[in-house]
Amino acid sequence: MEVLEAIKTRRSIRKYKATPVDDRTIELVLEAAHWAPSWANTQCWRFIVVQDKDIKNKLADTLNPTNSAIDAIRQAPLVIVACAELGKSGYYQEKPATDKGDWYMFDVALAMQNLVLAAHSLGLATVHVGRFDAKEAANILEVPQGFCVVEMTPLGYPDQVRDPRPRKELLEIVFYDKYGAT
Ligand SMILES: Cc1cc2nc3c(=O)[nH]c(=O)nc-3n(C[C@H](O)[C@H](O)[C@H](O)COP(=O)(O)O)c2cc1C
Repeated sequence: MEVLEAIKTRRSIRKYKATPVDDRTIELVLEAAHWAPSWANTQCWRFIVVQDKDIKNKLADTLNPTNSAIDAIRQAPLVIVACAELGKSGYYQEKPATDKGDWYMFDVALAMQNLVLAAHSLGLATVHVGRFDAKEAANILEVPQGFCVVEMTPLGYPDQVRDPRPRKELLEIVFYDKYGAT
């Protein structure tokens, strides 16, 4: 699938078939993630592929019951949890190099967006999930000190078709030369 088409046709999917995803396909989406750019090529991201049903259910329990992705975490044949090593991205000579501090969220987001677009191009569905108890998820997954859990996505074949959600007009978000100038 062509990149622009993948960007425009990807949707957040919250209903999944039980159909398994083969190992080669899982590897392809992980490869797409690891080709993302990162701060000084520090590659702070780590990915945990969760296929164990009990662990998936425990992860689903870290989502607030009002989170509409909760069933997707239980249903999908696997969940990919993105973690980050802290104190690497955004750092120069072991100190934060900018007013933003640690850039791990940015680098993990780039990798995960590569992953979801690659998944979509292979006919798979995903949804970025950020609203959950990341500390509890880290306990469940035995994530070591110095690392944190950032997001997770179910990965599997879609069991729903979704219309695109609206986006702001470019006029509202793009300025020329100075902020606010159109
Ligand atoms: C950082 C981030 C966190 C998100 N967290 C959740 C979440 O916890 N639960 C959920 O159902 N969707 C979550 N979403 C999905 C968004 O709701 C979705 O991307 C947005 O509504 C646009 O829809 P689309 O992805 O189909 O274009 C998240 C998306 C992003 C980028």
